[in-house]
Amino acid sequence: MSETTLKIRIFGEPILRKKARPVKEITSTQREILRQMVDTMYENHGIGLAAPQVGINMAMIVVDCGTGLYKLLNPKIIKKEGHQVIEEGCLSIPGVCIKIKRAKKIKVRAQDEFAKSQEIEAEGLLAACFQHEIDHLEGKLIVDYASFLTRLQIHNKLRELKKRAKDEKLFESKTKSCPLQL
Ligand code: NI
Repeated sequence: MSETTLKIRIFGEPILRKKARPVKEITSTQREILRQMVDTMYENHGIGLAAPQVGINMAMIVVDCGTGLYKLLNPKIIKKEGHQVIEEGCLSIPGVCIKIKRAKKIKVRAQDEFAKSQEIEAEGLLAACFQHEIDHLEGKLIVDYASFLTRLQIHNKLRELKKRAKDEKLFESKTKSCPLQL
């Protein structure tokens, strides 16, 4: 782990279930956190990361699905269209992969790291990625989308993750059961 990467919080840690606080003033502090979030996302081979996943209660996300890097503050979905199903993993829930139905096209309103307002139109994987990260800011996780059967199947895995989170043991999973880690 290099010195600019942050520790990823694992399922069972309370911050993952909190609603992230809106960022009122965007300063060099936020820019530095975003920079560290980007390093952490890349180091863990993720395509998205939300601030609560690194223990920071602020409405900030970073996304890079291969079509460019986004660093956004206070993101909100203002338009949704169509639907798609994509199998998603989550850096905070290693070893779990869930098929999720989400909007296919969305429009996101957010601020960039210099507090400039912007609207971004996204579709396909990028749209799924934004929806996944914005869910994190609401305390919502991929397991919340799981069917009853899937919940039964992943029950033991989640219990094991929770136990590790409680024990505060350093937990580094190299499980790559899902190609998309967000
Ligand atoms: Ni995630």
